[in-house]
Amino acid sequence: MSVLVPYRSALKSLAPYPPGKPIEEVQREFGLTNIVKLASNENPLGPSPLAIKALAAESSELNLYPESGCHYLRFKLAEHLGLEPNRLIFGNGSDEIVAMLAQSYLGPGDNIVISEHAFVRYEMGAVMMGAETRTIARLDWRHDPVAMVGACDERTRFVFVANPENPIGSFNPLADLERILAGVPRTAFVVLDEAYYEFARQNADYPESLQLLRNHDNLIILRTFSKAYGLAGLRIGYGIGHADAWDPVDRVRPPFNVSRAAQTAALAAMDDSEHLQNTLDNNARGREFLYEELKKLGLPYVETAANFILIDFGRPAMPIYDALLRAGVIVRPVGIYKLPNHLRVTIGLPEENQIFVDALRGVLRN
Ligand SMILES: Cc1ncc(COP(=O)(O)O)c(C=O)c1O
Repeated sequence: MSVLVPYRSALKSLAPYPPGKPIEEVQREFGLTNIVKLASNENPLGPSPLAIKALAAESSELNLYPESGCHYLRFKLAEHLGLEPNRLIFGNGSDEIVAMLAQSYLGPGDNIVISEHAFVRYEMGAVMMGAETRTIARLDWRHDPVAMVGACDERTRFVFVANPENPIGSFNPLADLERILAGVPRTAFVVLDEAYYEFARQNADYPESLQLLRNHDNLIILRTFSKAYGLAGLRIGYGIGHADAWDPVDRVRPPFNVSRAAQTAALAAMDDSEHLQNTLDNNARGREFLYEELKKLGLPYVETAANFILIDFGRPAMPIYDALLRAGVIVRPVGIYKLPNHLRVTIGLPEENQIFVDALRGVLRN
């Protein structure tokens, strides 16, 4: 017997998203017990202790559906950001917001504009909806604002600008964002994906993008609790934009898309400035350590504003990835990003970074 029901032809060119390899899988495959996972840009310090405590208190309520509109989180975040609550939408990770935007605004004949090596979920959203993707070359690892604007037409619905970009770590300054917003037709959204915002804003020239909302109703900003807030496992992210932008998105949004646990933990994590600061400090220290060690190994890397580093091996990187796996270190291959000679490593705890460097040194020696 087999399934004879035909599926949508648009999906024929869509492969499932390849996530970072889970620790358990590497343990099983290689018979290893000690594994270091630096593959998914997770928070190496774990979740905020305040979030864990709030979650425990909430556990007796898990028989109840959550509030669908994330009421308390919406108002707290709106106040924190200095915005009206109706400018926010919440998703099962910011990833779900990308998918809901695609479902709301894209169809055959429409197009999206992205930069080469962009986070893959944007193109996957376009493919899913039968829309075209226009891919623009980068300038020195950054988005090329002029070329991105030049690629737009009246059927462009999104220009996706991850800032910083994953898997690169680079970011564009305010003037570039202004150029993009000034040039893109009003019939397209500029989606500024700031998944790594809390890390990136430690850089003096990282743009504070909320100010751009004042003059641009077609600007959408995406952020997440997955990275600096350490809640990737609960899946919660949010979008900021004009209330009208969310009207169709709310129609496709599944009811209760953000769990009770995720809302509770996010509310608590927002109050944990100590955990956030520790996360940022650990990341800054780890970044400098890894830069130094990569220099010693003669490996070029892209300067990062995020919690990962893109390393250039100057030759196919999969054998290096495989050898690191056998040594118990999981990093991220980026072949699907058309970067076959690179690997992306998440900045971990000091001891994890050291294990990675030692393993890498061993692998490169052989
Ligand atoms: C640039 C970028 N956007 C969005 C996401 C999705 O994050 P989440 O769905 O966990 O909020 C990620 C996750 O890796 C990312 O790197």
